[in-house]
Amino acid sequence: MESSSKRLFSLDRPEKRVDGIAKVTGAARYAADERVASPAYAYAVTSTIARGRITAFKLDAARAVPGVLDILTYENVGNALKKQPQGPDGGPTTTTLQSPQIWHDGQIIALVVADSFEAAREAAFKVQVDYAPEDPSASFDHPGVSQEQSKPMSGEDPKVGDAAAAFAGAAVKIDAKYSTPTQHHNAMELFSTTCEWEGEHLTIYDPSQFMHGTRGATAAQLGIEADKVRAIARYVGGAFGSKGPNPRTAWIAVAAKRVGRPVKFVVTREQGFTTNTYRAETRHHVQLGAGRDGKLLSLRHEGFEISSRPSKYTVGGTDGTARMYACPNIATAVHVVHADRNTPGYMRAPPETPYMFALESAMDELAWELALDPIELRRRNDTQKDPVKGLPFSSRSLMKCYDEAAREFGWNKRAAKPGSMQQGEWLVGYGCATACYPSNQGPAAARVALVGNGKALVQLSGHEIGTGAYTLVALTAGRCLGLDVTNVTVIMGDSNLPPVVIAGGSSNAASTANVVLKGCEDIRARLAAAASRAKDSPLSGLDPAALELADGKLRHASGKSEPLEQALARVGGRAETYAEYVPEGMPQESMSALSEGKLRLQGGTGRKDVTAFAFGAHLVEVRVHARTREIRVPRTVSAFASGTIVNPMAAHSQYMGGAIWGISAALHEHTEIDERVARYVNENLADYLIPVNADVPDVRIIMVPEEDTRVNPLGIKGIGEIGIVGMNAAIANAVYHATGKRIRDLPIRVEHLLDA
Ligand code: MOS
Repeated sequence: MESSSKRLFSLDRPEKRVDGIAKVTGAARYAADERVASPAYAYAVTSTIARGRITAFKLDAARAVPGVLDILTYENVGNALKKQPQGPDGGPTTTTLQSPQIWHDGQIIALVVADSFEAAREAAFKVQVDYAPEDPSASFDHPGVSQEQSKPMSGEDPKVGDAAAAFAGAAVKIDAKYSTPTQHHNAMELFSTTCEWEGEHLTIYDPSQFMHGTRGATAAQLGIEADKVRAIARYVGGAFGSKGPNPRTAWIAVAAKRVGRPVKFVVTREQGFTTNTYRAETRHHVQLGAGRDGKLLSLRHEGFEISSRPSKYTVGGTDGTARMYACPNIATAVHVVHADRNTPGYMRAPPETPYMFALESAMDELAWELALDPIELRRRNDTQKDPVKGLPFSSRSLMKCYDEAAREFGWNKRAAKPGSMQQGEWLVGYGCATACYPSNQGPAAARVALVGNGKALVQLSGHEIGTGAYTLVALTAGRCLGLDVTNVTVIMGDSNLPPVVIAGGSSNAASTANVVLKGCEDIRARLAAAASRAKDSPLSGLDPAALELADGKLRHASGKSEPLEQALARVGGRAETYAEYVPEGMPQESMSALSEGKLRLQGGTGRKDVTAFAFGAHLVEVRVHARTREIRVPRTVSAFASGTIVNPMAAHSQYMGGAIWGISAALHEHTEIDERVARYVNENLADYLIPVNADVPDVRIIMVPEEDTRVNPLGIKGIGEIGIVGMNAAIANAVYHATGKRIRDLPIRVEHLLDA
């Protein structure tokens, strides 16, 4: 029998968003849109120094503002929190209202609660704070920072052979340093929290990509049972890693208890830069040693990342870079550098975006050193085996991606010499780089119900963070049950529903589609067994395993069938099931841990059977103006192979969004820091540059068909993050081809090319 994935999904069966109309008409409720009775409003007071202590609060002027109900500061909250909020790595992080200590500029130090948003805001500006300031350390190179060893997410530095000796003896060497800048997510939907108590029960409306995590973390901080807390986020207006459990939520719950009313809190765009996580700046030292044939002999990658003073959080992208190419000698290390900054966190392809910039830039440098086409260099080092663990890749179609992208792009028109492809006043350059992302997945549970009129209901706590999750669930259930998507209702975004792992690490499709398949398969099996047993069914006596649900019928390949309604009538007119999916190789108790809010994710590099990654290739054309050095990207072609694609329309859009963000990461985005005061200076959407349509005129996406029978039952490898990975390097590589100038520090700006 044909595999489930082939039967259910194909690249020529796109599906429009089932929630599209709700979103464009405003019917979709985001967390801050939820109505609560008679809310009070909170506004945060944030620190204006980056390091030191608060010596005094003067609150009289603020308290005098009409409508002010309460002002929470460290002096009056007592031990309202029983447990400190954790950083994104589960470790310690900066505090907020717990003490007079200032860890970073823009730290929440007081919450004003008032009858109206306006009153709260006015009072917040009237809070006077005296500080005992100290000289802050903003970032790398400041003498006040401290550095220590860290680890990649797998917990183990990838290492094989003797990389130092192999590098020393290599015929061709690249030894270079790279850096990537501070970046902030800036999702359209602002960060917000609304908390409402009913007796001992707390309801939280908070945009979260991990409902059970938000519930569990907040309950633990408040010292109450998790089942007294309900977290709701029906829609999330963009997350990209920034919307997990956070230190803000519990304080709003405390505020709501103190004023005896629901409290609504929306973080301003500016405050979002310092009160939530971001992508910290990184530095890299890459050493590649190769033979004259271009085969890698040694790969060394050392990363340095900024974090806050108390947090050891790093992204540790060596898990990926060590596994990209065949190489017998590999050594890696990751270091965390503590500065007076807010704690960073996940941002789209957190490890791969900066670390692959370094590796793929170095690979390009190696190709030039060898006078080899950079795609040919990748081909010579391609492998079907994880070079660190020796495990097979679950599937790897990297060179197919390069070949398809090269054909579409016209790569064969590339003239090798830098600066040799001038057109009029423009220097033209072609560049390429590899994209990758580990195929992660986690436990998920769902309730599926099918009723007599051919309608289905699927309920799970899952997350619509803008990725098309409602459509993915409706589509999967619809195809499994033989119903049109419009006949499937999906309820998500509520921690009272069956738990689903974090919508992060590009794991959502694999985790939720596999559990929905399981639930639907259970329903099909029940209907099939009943029909097979029944004397009056046209399907009587047939093998239940050979009966499928399609087109509103239960049917057999022979053509025999009966209407769904009839099949359902035999089991009481309704079939309902609860399904759990725990990825093979994960302990069964990861499901109960998940329901307590503990993150359980099976990483693509953490498996015993295979190493699982999706791969892709970016090919770009860059034009640099011969006189002004203006940099344009007239076209990009990116090809990806990510196993089964559930919804090609959503996948295309995800890939494209990622590719555009990669262009942004290469040429536009940079959170500028005033080093003297360790303060972000462009904390708004006007000064934080992102590409507009004119910056991305032609972004082409190719989906390379790939069947992966090992990664999970449906063969899904995930698509949410891979699109951004490597694009920054492809652009830097194209800039080199255009100008002969190697830019190793992002973002690339006109001023970096003036002397090229
Ligand atoms: Mo993503 S950065 O794993 O939400």
